[in-house]
Amino acid sequence: MSKLRSVLRGCGSYLPAQILTNADMAKKVDTTDEWIVQRTGIRQRHIAADDETTSVLGLKAAEAALADAGMRADEIDLIIVATATPDHTFPATATQIQAELGITQGAAFDLQAVCSGFVFALATADKFLTSGAAKAALVIGAETFSRILDWEDRTTCVLFGDGAGAVVLAAEEGEGTLADRGVLTTHIRSDGRHKTKLYVDGGAGSTKTVGLLRMEGKEVFRHAVVNLADTVRHTFEATGLTGADIDWFVPHQANRRIIDATADKLGISQDHVVVTVDRHGNTSAASIPLALAEAHADGRIKRGQLVLIEAMGGGFTWGSALIRW
Ligand code: UT7
Repeated sequence: MSKLRSVLRGCGSYLPAQILTNADMAKKVDTTDEWIVQRTGIRQRHIAADDETTSVLGLKAAEAALADAGMRADEIDLIIVATATPDHTFPATATQIQAELGITQGAAFDLQAVCSGFVFALATADKFLTSGAAKAALVIGAETFSRILDWEDRTTCVLFGDGAGAVVLAAEEGEGTLADRGVLTTHIRSDGRHKTKLYVDGGAGSTKTVGLLRMEGKEVFRHAVVNLADTVRHTFEATGLTGADIDWFVPHQANRRIIDATADKLGISQDHVVVTVDRHGNTSAASIPLALAEAHADGRIKRGQLVLIEAMGGGFTWGSALIRW
């Protein structure tokens, strides 16, 4: 039976030029390259210049994704920007990117699920496209976490970086089987009881300030390994697939130890895992599209292959999606 699918037409990314190495971090806080590499796998991160706001990064990623798709901006009628670091409290960063792209049709809005934002945004866009409510979507993950870090807190400031990634999805008729190209299944979850384990201590509606990121790292780590394996299990149950069927596992890039432990639990071998955390750090909602764009551009991910993505972040929020490229 035919079924509308959200087919991935292209992807792109943008990283700010400035790089902060672990040696640079050791000049700012009491840390070492050895500690950071051993505990997280991170070696460096990119930091946005003063004039590079989240919409600037997101726009560059969106332009790259459109070029990769061979599509014009005026073919897009839905833009979702996953971000926890919008340029302004309002209007949405997505509407600013919409204007910069010269798009005056359709709708653009931001979506807030912190590090799980890209998975949530992809799941949302998929619902619009497969219901016929939109024809072509830009799904963007863009973040400037360097602006909400406490640069005196060594337990958090060494972990994050800035960047943006984007994908173009278009509604296409499929057969309704797992052989179809496009988004095959998505699963998203949240549990607000865990707010204080990972949050920003300010906001327009509370302190009237932006606030800084606070995290109980060990607690987040513990929940991440359990929740990520759980959400992927739902993906496997929904499709009848196993880890052995996955061509590329593209997890949220928070910590190399979480990535390795999750891949092991799911029976996915290390040579099928895309890792960027060593060079990008944790870029929150941008990490998955950044990794997708890299592995797509260098030819690792090929048309027709099965790509599994997953993420976990503040809230807590977590989710996964399976895409046939
Ligand atoms: O994307 C959203 C989701 N976020 C995550 O997934 C992050 C999850 N959590 C983690 O990745 C890890 O918990 C961290 C990398 C944040 C921390 O690793 P850990 O193995 O859980 O270390 P810890 O917090 O237990 O700290 C161990 C020690 C402590 O010293 P004591 O108390 O044992 O003397 C910390 O004070 O390491 C110390 N420490 C550091 N030392 C050097 C903490 N940060 C640093 C640092 N440099 N940057």
